[in-house]
Amino acid sequence: MSDWAWALADTARTMPSAQLGDDLDAGSLRLREVVTSYHRRLRAGCAAPDNAIIVGGFRHGLNIVLGALARRGITHLGLEDPGPREHDVIAGRAGLGVVAVPVDDHGLDVARLRASPARAVLVTPAHQCPTGALLSSQRRRDLVAWAQEVDGVIVEDDYDAEFRYDRQPVGSLQGLAPEHVIALGSVSKTLAPAIKIGWMLVPPPLVTQLRQDMRLTSRGVPVLDQFALAALIESGRFDRHLRRMRTLYATRRATLSAAVEAALPKLRLTGLAAGCHALLRLPDDLREAAVVAAAQRRSVRVRGLSDYRVGVGSAGNAAASPLGPALVLGFGNVNESRIRRGVDALAKALTELNATS
Ligand SMILES: Cc1ncc(COP(=O)(O)O)c(C=O)c1O
Repeated sequence: MSDWAWALADTARTMPSAQLGDDLDAGSLRLREVVTSYHRRLRAGCAAPDNAIIVGGFRHGLNIVLGALARRGITHLGLEDPGPREHDVIAGRAGLGVVAVPVDDHGLDVARLRASPARAVLVTPAHQCPTGALLSSQRRRDLVAWAQEVDGVIVEDDYDAEFRYDRQPVGSLQGLAPEHVIALGSVSKTLAPAIKIGWMLVPPPLVTQLRQDMRLTSRGVPVLDQFALAALIESGRFDRHLRRMRTLYATRRATLSAAVEAALPKLRLTGLAAGCHALLRLPDDLREAAVVAAAQRRSVRVRGLSDYRVGVGSAGNAAASPLGPALVLGFGNVNESRIRRGVDALAKALTELNATS
């Protein structure tokens, strides 16, 4: 039985029915206590249970947060460019203008954010999506200083934080500046996207508004699932599951590196310090779209880095990334032999393209 199935079954058997009516809007106090303690222990956070709100996954939380920021008078949101897909669309639907902020090897370029009209920014500091950069400690300090100066809001997507391979996990921004950071986390990567539970850790002045937004939209997430997640974390099974997955992903990551080194020795693989995806940097004269199509013909599904540009969905804005052509390779749910076969197929696709260009 999977850990999640165990937690659901055990919770369904033991949960007193009186707890079904636990706080609907903010989420059950028990899970809020467990999540804030987990965040303190593993992510160096400092939120109190009263500042936590349980949501139906990261995206649900993001929609709630961006709507609330727009109603508080924020007009522009900074987004990492390249960055997670569709966040520009979500921001637009919330009524926010979008500012594309470049990303380099140290993460978000805070100087460019500073020069923009944005008073809120959405970042993936633990493992930038999709480049894999870690937001450097200097940039973290700069970002917090920016938020303090403009009375701004940093929305932290704590994406991939649990799966760091090269060193100890880096702490969350929330722990550095709790009065300016809204931290969003979910079990999408640690357990499964379909479980649909997440949390937001919110500065005290925003708690009332965000609780109200939860009441006016979904009225919370299923309480059985909330108690099951609390039980899973409290039982120690969640930590054991993370350790197991970290080992599994580390093996897949090593397999990917070795396969690229063997089949594509001239190409560089970057962004591998954490998470379940890496960037394969392509020669400047290759067109990403042609490589993606050639890979697809060999049944290898990859995305080009330009797919992650801010505004890619708008007509005419699918420009190549200034970081150069690259492919985003996911290895989380691909076993070792498929990783090797995939890289070999990719190498053949590249040879074919070189031969025909
Ligand atoms: C950048 C990023 N953040 C967060 C998430 C988790 O989102 P959710 O909890 O809505 O599944 C994902 C999922 O793929 C993601 O790509």
